[in-house]
Amino acid sequence: MILVTGGAGFIGSNFTLDWLAAGGEPVVNLDLLTYSGNLGNLEALRGDARHRFVRGDIGDRASVAKLLAEHRPRAVVNFAAETHVDRSIHGPDAFVKTNVLGTFELLEAVRAHWTALPSGEREAFRFLQVSTDEVYGTLAPDAPGFAETTPYAPNSPYSASKAASDHFVRAAFHTFGLPTLTTNCSNNYGPRQFPEKLIPLMIANALAGKPLPVYGDGMQVRDWLYVSDHCSAIRAVLARGRPGEVYNIGGNAEMPNLDVVRTICAVLARERPGRDYAALVTHVKDRPGHDRRYAIDPTKVRREIRWEPSETFTSGIAKTVRWYLDNAAWLDSVQTREYQSWISLQYEPAH
Ligand code: NAD
Ligand code: DAU
Repeated sequence: MILVTGGAGFIGSNFTLDWLAAGGEPVVNLDLLTYSGNLGNLEALRGDARHRFVRGDIGDRASVAKLLAEHRPRAVVNFAAETHVDRSIHGPDAFVKTNVLGTFELLEAVRAHWTALPSGEREAFRFLQVSTDEVYGTLAPDAPGFAETTPYAPNSPYSASKAASDHFVRAAFHTFGLPTLTTNCSNNYGPRQFPEKLIPLMIANALAGKPLPVYGDGMQVRDWLYVSDHCSAIRAVLARGRPGEVYNIGGNAEMPNLDVVRTICAVLARERPGRDYAALVTHVKDRPGHDRRYAIDPTKVRREIRWEPSETFTSGIAKTVRWYLDNAAWLDSVQTREYQSWISLQYEPAH
């Protein structure tokens, strides 16, 4: 079996569902169920003997050690993290706690477990760290995309905490020989993404007839990766990646935020006519320290892992909008009181 952490969140739940659908081994899921974790994301696996959910903290070394001893996973895939840049600006502490200290505790528990394995199992074992392209900082408009050799230059508390955790993963390989793999991917989108992030926030607001808050001039560029493509990339890196290596994963879909928002409005106008969605676009105060452009150079993953994304932004965004339209109950259920307070803290001008 494999141990997935953060598997009740957006990417982790898509990964778990896709992994099992692709015939992968059973999954034990360790997730603290913070505001962005949601057991409803794993509803399709209720009663499925190939999946076990455990509520817990990656930073609780003793509990992780117990889980590892009980299940003897052949791999750990670490998705668990605090993930929203804007929340890291309002309150960085949780990011240091989970992303830095939590990842460190998880690594220590994994290292102790791995050290005691018989040699065949030790060699086959993998620890895969799911990281982000944000650790590389920001790109000039015409600069080449981030390569695995691009120096780390994180600009937000979120990306600084992810960079720190990546360094501990790197050190675990170099110092102790733990067979680690690190993936740094670009912005994901797709089903089950918490509506604090750009794409689901815009879909939720547009459907409710609320303003679509675009930060600054809206010309910041991201390289959009459909979540199931990201999941297939992780499966491929787990199968074919070389221990100690880093692989950058992108969607070959660079686009300014304003174009993303306008595309969502156009898809909604087709799927759910009756409202002028584009008229809801509202420019608001920019994010402090806002990175202007991210882009991935996919050469290494293409060459060494033989992986390419299969969705274009046009196909992926159409599927995504359709999913949110078909899952209105999910969208309602995650807009809790905590969510409403976040929205007013972030978007009401008094703050
Ligand atoms: P998410 O916020 O939707 O999910 C995070 C999950 O981690 C939640 O289920 C939460 O309950 C869980 N969690 C948080 N703290 C925990 C702890 N201490 N112990 C156990 N579980 C904990 O995030 P996501 O978008 O699915 O991101 C998953 C991973 O992918 C993160 O490591 C993130 O940095 C990385 N990533 C995300 C993107 C993106 O665009 N979403 C892009 C690049 C990298
Ligand atoms: O690049 C990978 C990263 O992508 C991940 O590591 C992060 O976990 C993930 O949250 C994401 O970070 P971003 O900051 O790029 O994503 P977000 O969806 O928050 O914002 C995308 C862009 O849209 C960014 O330029 C900010 C802008 N934006 C965002 C929101 C929430 C707006 O203009 N308005 C908004 O209301």
